[in-house]
Amino acid sequence: MAVGGNGSYCTPGLCQYLAMLPPASHLLSLLLVLGTGGTVPSPWVPPQGCYVAEEAGERTFRCSQAGLSAVPTGIPNDTRKLYLDANRLASVPAGAFQHLPVLEELDLSHNALVHLSGAAFQGLAGSLRHLDLSANQLASVPVEAFVGLKIQVNLSANPWRCDCALQEVLRQVRLAPDTGTGIVCGPGARPDLVGQEFLPLAGEEELCGTGRGGAQRSTDVALLVTMGGWLVLVVAYLAHYVWQNRDETRRPLKPAPVLPVRSEDSSTLSTVV
Ligand SMILES: *[C@@H]1O[C@H](CO)[C@@H](O)[C@H](O)[C@H]1NC(C)=O
Ligand SMILES: *[C@@H]1O[C@H](CO)[C@@H](O)[C@H](O)[C@H]1NC(C)=O
Repeated sequence: MAVGGNGSYCTPGLCQYLAMLPPASHLLSLLLVLGTGGTVPSPWVPPQGCYVAEEAGERTFRCSQAGLSAVPTGIPNDTRKLYLDANRLASVPAGAFQHLPVLEELDLSHNALVHLSGAAFQGLAGSLRHLDLSANQLASVPVEAFVGLKIQVNLSANPWRCDCALQEVLRQVRLAPDTGTGIVCGPGARPDLVGQEFLPLAGEEELCGTGRGGAQRSTDVALLVTMGGWLVLVVAYLAHYVWQNRDETRRPLKPAPVLPVRSEDSSTLSTVV
């Protein structure tokens, strides 16, 4: 007989066996886990650096400077203001915020955005009012991303290519107050535009081809020219045809006598049958 560590008596073998068993409290929690079907209901924990707050009675989700490289998951669906500024986001995929039906304000500024999906703000048409895309690496954004949104947007401090897409975006959105001068053409723009402010430029130059009216007119002209070309061809062919036929009727009939004979043959044949 030996004295066990906890004061109870046991044989040496049994003592070793008991020492290997997990403590009773661990066993209890293990049983609890098994009893709840293997899942312990735990409250959702925001990613590190993020927190939920109530600001002026509005549910706010702040993830500023949290080192994020993707839009976090699990953002509460009653969030009205979402701050994802000063992170490392490089793109916004399609439907990234579509589970946030009451989102009014979205701050994506000071990231590394180079690409926005055409469906990036899908599902926000009824709610989104303010969007901050400033201080990113955007050279161009798809106009589809903004269609149907009634938003005020900050597009400052991006290396804009100053192309047709940007001009069309500016027809879709309103700019946040005093942010127009911050839209400057970057190194990817037409050489004469680099470093220029976009708004004055966009006001006086149509960057989408020769403009809608102009484009329409030029396609009309192209159509007319094509149709005219066909008409000339058809007339030329007809003239040629008529001319050739006239030549043939003038010529002494050479192959003509052969044909009537044949037709007579076939007709006599058919009457015989
Ligand atoms: C959020 O989700 C819950 C549960 O799915 C739902 O009952 C609630 O209506 C949603 N809230 C909003 C604002 O959509
Ligand atoms: C727009 O963005 C610039 C650069 O991030 C910032 O300095 C400015 O305050 C913003 N303006 C508004 C109205 O949001």
